[in-house]
Amino acid sequence: MAEPSPRFWEIFFDVYEALPRQGPGNRASAARALALCGELPPEPAILDLGCGAGAQTLHLAELTAGRIVALDSHAPFVSEAQRRIAAGGLGPRVAARVGDMTAPPVAPGTTDLLWCEGAAYFLGIERALRTWQPFLRAGGHLCFTEAVWLRSDPPAEVREMWEKEYPAMTDVAGNLALIERVGGYDLRGHFTVPDTAWWDDFYTPMERRIAALRPKYAPDPAAGAVLDSIAGEIDLHRRFGDCYGYEFFVLRRGGA
Ligand SMILES: C[S@@+](CC[C@H](N)C(=O)[O-])C[C@H]1O[C@@H](n2cnc3c(N)ncnc32)[C@H](O)[C@@H]1O
Repeated sequence: MAEPSPRFWEIFFDVYEALPRQGPGNRASAARALALCGELPPEPAILDLGCGAGAQTLHLAELTAGRIVALDSHAPFVSEAQRRIAAGGLGPRVAARVGDMTAPPVAPGTTDLLWCEGAAYFLGIERALRTWQPFLRAGGHLCFTEAVWLRSDPPAEVREMWEKEYPAMTDVAGNLALIERVGGYDLRGHFTVPDTAWWDDFYTPMERRIAALRPKYAPDPAAGAVLDSIAGEIDLHRRFGDCYGYEFFVLRRGGA
């Protein structure tokens, strides 16, 4: 895919920075993934990679007594995560930082729970699994979500969109085979996040945000086209949401 223009990113972030979260997910799914981990240490050391504005960081802070380092490369998302952390009085045990998830700011072998909702695909799942494994202590857990095909026969329109946006996307079986090939992880479980996790805190506020931004960008047809393309993704999900979804994978690092 051609790299989008700076103007595209300006408008994209004008939409995304105003959202409660930057990808599909919700508290119930985070709780379900945590339950698949089984027993964690009383105050687990948690890394939340590609945290965006911190939606799942706050869920993890609520669902565990963990010490959390949340990391994202986009500074305005991190500022918003920091604002939410401070507003929740979570400062003593939760920190959000700007950084690169290929080099988390923690020592190898010290992380009890490595969490990544909707961001592993930036590295590619195989690279993410290999890069993050050394940061986990033996017996530590890796929970991540990833876009997957739910149907093998999607209509051409939806297949072509994903082939353009994310050609490496595969199905659950493809991801399980990849996890097996990388090695060093035991699968604890996996599940498809419910459709409400796409709408409640993501696409519904995104639709409202796009509508609110229309007057601002009305004088610029190219900007309007960017808003149309973002809205098109929502429309596609409304029509073809049964063909693809987000799968939560819960893995345990072997060796304990
Ligand atoms: C789809 S969003 C998901 C955000 C958040 N986890 C959520 O579900 O709301 C993906 C996030 O990954 C971040 N990201 C992409 N590449 C990154 C990298 N190399 N290091 C850190 N963050 C990265 C993006 O800035 C973005 O916030």
